[in-house]
Amino acid sequence: MSTTDPHDDNNAAPAAAPAGFDARRFKAMERAGFNRIAARYAEGAHLRADLAAALLDAAALAPGQRVLDLASGPGLLARDAALRVSPGGTVLATDIAEGMLAEGARRCGEHADTPCFAAADAEHLCLADASVDRVLAGLALFIFPHPERALAEMKRVLVPGGQVALSVWGARATVPLIHRAQDTIARLLPAPKVARPSVFRYGEPEVLAQTLGAAGFVDVDIRPCEFSCHFESADAYWWAFLDLAGGAAEALGRLPQATQDALQAAVVDELAQHCCDDGRGGYLLPARTLVATARRPTSPKP
Ligand SMILES: C[S@@+](CC[C@H](N)C(=O)[O-])C[C@H]1O[C@@H](n2cnc3c(N)ncnc32)[C@H](O)[C@@H]1O
Repeated sequence: MSTTDPHDDNNAAPAAAPAGFDARRFKAMERAGFNRIAARYAEGAHLRADLAAALLDAAALAPGQRVLDLASGPGLLARDAALRVSPGGTVLATDIAEGMLAEGARRCGEHADTPCFAAADAEHLCLADASVDRVLAGLALFIFPHPERALAEMKRVLVPGGQVALSVWGARATVPLIHRAQDTIARLLPAPKVARPSVFRYGEPEVLAQTLGAAGFVDVDIRPCEFSCHFESADAYWWAFLDLAGGAAEALGRLPQATQDALQAAVVDELAQHCCDDGRGGYLLPARTLVATARRPTSPKP
């Protein structure tokens, strides 16, 4: 998936792509999956509102800035960013899944401070060098098959001194919100023939810092952002997982209905230790994320 190879292991190191991994097929699967869940992704975004706010605050947006929201999904960060850079600023929301962008455009309507939406692969941006002041990338770096290419593109389009602000999932054990569903899938389904890169691969701050540094960014700052999501039932958790993870939703959506039903029924077994005891009932699933900022150097290295 994106947010989720069901058999995702706990690799926090950004290892090279697994043997046999086909980046084009992977991207096509992600695109199909996020197009499939576009409206539901937007509906569920309130669950991650604290993370969105933390990322936008970290980006230190100001009126007049030009912002690129990369892998924007339905443009929720972009919409808030547009308010923060008004008056005089601009926001471009890009994503590989055009259905996500269409959902975002539909929700934004036609206000003066509305972002522009344009389909683009984060690894190949059709933007001029040094054309934006800020790049946002929420929950996206780990989805790209070649994250180093996406980071190079982010640096290329930023003005010297411009800043990227991004978020990633923490290490696997700190993200029950994702890994409990993955555990269920791994328990019931055979491992895929070709593994996918882990969505937790940037979950350790040192790994993320090293990756941003290797891409040529400076002034790297990384802070944890922790939040919990409440679900009334195991079914609600299962659907929220699928509404967040395009690739998984696509892969599982192609299985026989009986298998899908069995997975949904089985997830309750993974949730026992997450029973909500504050009187609401249901389940409380925590997630640790990292919010990073980094700058394009003002002058090239001597
Ligand atoms: C988990 S969503 C994050 C959306 C949004 N940034 C947020 O913070 O809610 C990941 C997004 O990355 C997009 N995506 C996946 N691969 C991409 C690629 N190669 N280039 C651009 N977008 C991509 C997906 O379509 C999806 O909208």
